[in-house]
Amino acid sequence: MEIIVAKTAGFCFGVKKAVDTAYEQINMGKKIYTLGPIIHNETVVKDLEDKGATVIENIDDLKNIKSGTVIIRSHGVPKNVYDLLEENHIDYVDTTCPFVKRIHSIVSKAAEEGKTVVIIGNAGHPEVEGIQGWAGEKSYVIESVEQAENFDLPKETEICLVSQTTFNHKKFEELVAIFEKKYYYINVAKTICNATEHSQKEAAEIASKADVMIVIGGAHSSNSRKLYEICKKECDNTYFIQTLDDLSLDLSKPAEIVGITAGASTPNNIIEEVQNYVRHNF
Ligand code: F3S
Repeated sequence: MEIIVAKTAGFCFGVKKAVDTAYEQINMGKKIYTLGPIIHNETVVKDLEDKGATVIENIDDLKNIKSGTVIIRSHGVPKNVYDLLEENHIDYVDTTCPFVKRIHSIVSKAAEEGKTVVIIGNAGHPEVEGIQGWAGEKSYVIESVEQAENFDLPKETEICLVSQTTFNHKKFEELVAIFEKKYYYINVAKTICNATEHSQKEAAEIASKADVMIVIGGAHSSNSRKLYEICKKECDNTYFIQTLDDLSLDLSKPAEIVGITAGASTPNNIIEEVQNYVRHNF
């Protein structure tokens, strides 16, 4: 049996920077807070909590922080969070991924110019909420063909269209095509990050030849779930697991090729554990 592990599996550089920064701050003896979990991975979040990190779920709770350092995670945050941190003199380290920062600057410039901002992404995802927090009053989040088709503003509306960094590449193109048919003045910034694009392409390639495909990622990680969807299309026998404990491979016939990939928030040790388990048990 051959095991193919995607080269792009695991932490992307943005997530790595956020996680490394959190550990660095703790090792410097600081009390740290993260707005929401630093990554969508319970094992890492639990380890940080055990070392004294506190996850804050509500922006208003930031106001109660008297000392310590807030880590802004790679997803980024709306502008009002920076304002609140500054106003309350709260120490913070910003690990917003540069790809996300770029989107913030594109949409805030568009908003200043009076354009309508359309974010292709999953409403409610923290990265999308962060982007919306820079996009002014006239901003919309679209994730489906149906929403794009029903989107109804005058044809002359000036539109700036961006994407959530982890959005599915093909689906983005499909939605852009709908907008381009409907509006005269439309600027499209393709802001899907390379890390995502590469890992989606590589996952599809491996899944297309694998008998069994394993996708490792947090249950709440949008890029992991997308990898799962992509792999499932290519390989019916695709499993989505968070850790090795979730894996119950039921192989009715021997698999010749097992593919493994992992979302951007999956630590390397979990990928290795799964790989070793498959190698030694099948
Ligand atoms: Fe950044 Fe892309 Fe990762 S946007 S956080 S490098 S998935």
